[in-house]
Amino acid sequence: MIVGVLNSKGGVGKTTIAVHLAVWLMEQGYATAFVDSDAQKSSTEWIAGLDTAIPVTSVLSSKELIDELRAQDKAADFVVVDGPAGLSEITRTIMLYADVILFPCGPSALDLRAAFAAIKKLGEAQTLRSKNPARVYFVPNKVQKNQRLSRELLNVSEDLGLGLAGWLGLRQAFADAAGQGTVVWKMGRRAEKATFEITKLFKEVFYGTK
Ligand SMILES: Nc1ncnc2c1ncn2[C@@H]1O[C@H](COP(=O)(O)OP(=O)(O)O)[C@@H](O)[C@H]1O
Ligand SMILES: [Mg+2]
Repeated sequence: MIVGVLNSKGGVGKTTIAVHLAVWLMEQGYATAFVDSDAQKSSTEWIAGLDTAIPVTSVLSSKELIDELRAQDKAADFVVVDGPAGLSEITRTIMLYADVILFPCGPSALDLRAAFAAIKKLGEAQTLRSKNPARVYFVPNKVQKNQRLSRELLNVSEDLGLGLAGWLGLRQAFADAAGQGTVVWKMGRRAEKATFEITKLFKEVFYGTK
């Protein structure tokens, strides 16, 4: 099964969610592979420092991505793909090939506006794959419950026609995880809330339980 994490906007949490997801799936006992399709290779570096058995490939073109997805999808139970910023051919390829798509979005007017272009493209891709559409989840990220834009973000998935499986708060633990080369559930008590939020999201997407 191919799981793509994408949004045309940078800084919305694609890499954070993709890396956590791959580690979580592996810890659940699934053979998990990772494809980094962002030229910045942040997730490749993050996973390299994690001391896990997750194989990572970085790809720089949609042709490479397609070849890699075909090969890895046969070898692994799950292939997690971290998407690049921008609406490139690579992003479109993920939209066409992924079985599950997580679409993180931050609570800023700019993030929301940028997301609309990607969501439109996603709608077009879903139309093309009418018989076999992806399961798409909108993931509000960096949410602060007392902030107006965050509350709007939590409601917008319905207007967009996208599923909502959970959301992540703005938490220092998520920001620290990459720098410390770890995942939030290995960071102890100070990352309890972050751990609860992200595992709740994954359980809902993959097991349908809250
Ligand atoms: N929920 C969150 N709370 C706090 N910081 C976050 C959260 N999600 C992501 N970040 C931070 O925001 C920045 C962008 O996240 P990243 O996952 O790299 O986004 P993208 O891959 O979409 O560019 C990083 O510094 C990351 O640590
Ligand atoms: Mg990234």
